[in-house]
Amino acid sequence: MCFEYIPDVYKIVSVKGAGIMRDGDERIFAPADLAGIHLNNRIIRSGTFEGMCDEEGRPTKQLVKLYTDLADGGVGAIITGAIGVSKAGMSPFAGMGMLDQDSNIPLYRDLILQVHAHNTPIIAQLSHYGRFSGGRDHQRLDKYTSSEIKLIIREFAEAGRRAAQCGFDGIELQCAHGYLLSEFLSQYANYRDDQWGGTAFKRFRIVGEIMYGIQQEAPDIPILIKMNGDEERHAGMDPTSAAEYAIMMEDAGACAIEVSRGLREDFCSTIRGDVCYDRIIEEDPTLRKMPKQLRSFAEPVVHSLYHPWKPTRLYNLKAAMTIRNAVPIPVILNGGVHDMDEIRKALITKRLDFVTISRPLIHDPCLIQKYMEQQMDVSGCRECNRCYSGIMSHPLQCETAAEAVKENNSEEPDQPDSNK
Ligand SMILES: Cc1cc2nc3c(=O)[nH]c(=O)nc-3n(C[C@H](O)[C@H](O)[C@H](O)COP(=O)(O)O)c2cc1C
Ligand code: SF4
Repeated sequence: MCFEYIPDVYKIVSVKGAGIMRDGDERIFAPADLAGIHLNNRIIRSGTFEGMCDEEGRPTKQLVKLYTDLADGGVGAIITGAIGVSKAGMSPFAGMGMLDQDSNIPLYRDLILQVHAHNTPIIAQLSHYGRFSGGRDHQRLDKYTSSEIKLIIREFAEAGRRAAQCGFDGIELQCAHGYLLSEFLSQYANYRDDQWGGTAFKRFRIVGEIMYGIQQEAPDIPILIKMNGDEERHAGMDPTSAAEYAIMMEDAGACAIEVSRGLREDFCSTIRGDVCYDRIIEEDPTLRKMPKQLRSFAEPVVHSLYHPWKPTRLYNLKAAMTIRNAVPIPVILNGGVHDMDEIRKALITKRLDFVTISRPLIHDPCLIQKYMEQQMDVSGCRECNRCYSGIMSHPLQCETAAEAVKENNSEEPDQPDSNK
């Protein structure tokens, strides 16, 4: 049962009304198979950076608690937050998980055993942050030499081998959101005219070689891909080019495609809703180093750089349908699939295979159980995106829920002192 996770929070902001089971809901909540991975249902926790690992990238008890809460809370499977394959390509934010060294395997193994004890599969999302990394690889795509690219391919393959040794049920390659692999795929970002760019096949090459490398190191582990279905940019990915890549991915052995969108540089094209300008200015690691008076000058810059994106729900549906019509493997819809009606539209009306959810599960890890038990059918997440700005400086939490708890505690009357 999922009762431990700051229960006060959910009393305040989560419960909006009772849900009603509708015809066809059995498809959503019945167990389902994803490339041999046995899922409890078709709703998967989407890869979400937690910042809950130690300096070496090993999981802490806080991460174990989050994952077991999600498992108890009814998700069909968990995709981890981005796990780094090398220090050179890791996130600039603290607490990232890492599979760059064998010595991290034992603690990941323990974590997975605990998640499996709660009957939930767990998939490792392997990622390289490219020009957004906090390490040596913080550079433009055209600056990478061929030997650096080959090293990165090797690093992904070894991280894949470690993921299999840890006991992960699958691997997801993070090829979305403008990070390294996403940039290679996108004509918008990839200006190379060598063997790593210039044509769709050459832009795909790094992903294909990584998949081959992982298959050599860990032949049995299923590989999923998270990719952008649309970038809304001149020469960027669109549903047609995304479908072409999906065909190449399936050909290379991908067992499922998760469809997302957006670029890190836009802040909110992937994660739609409010652009929390005040919090970006407060949390951004570079701006935090500035004296307070100077930071006010950054304000107009931040406002000019970022704007809210619309629509905020089901914004990858069209791309997912295009990809679904191009490949026979399962297609997973991500992005603004928050409420039961949106889940129904994706899984019942459109017959997509799975959906992934991020923010509603940050807000309430027990949400799916509540949907299943018809306690509610609308998520309490307000899409304020403060959890997203928050990971720049501290571990993942629903800031809205945390504030509600704080306010609630401060309103509580003092307890009588029993010693008096
Ligand atoms: C705090 C936060 C951290 C995220 N970290 C990751 C990540 O590590 N890997 C990834 O692929 N997507 C990440 N995302 C994006 C989500 O997986 C998802 O694509 C996006 O939030 C849209 O889904 P949603 O509407 O269900 O939130 C993150 C999103 C949030 C809010
Ligand atoms: S902090 Fe994140 S999870 Fe919480 S309400 Fe805002 S967007 Fe939703």
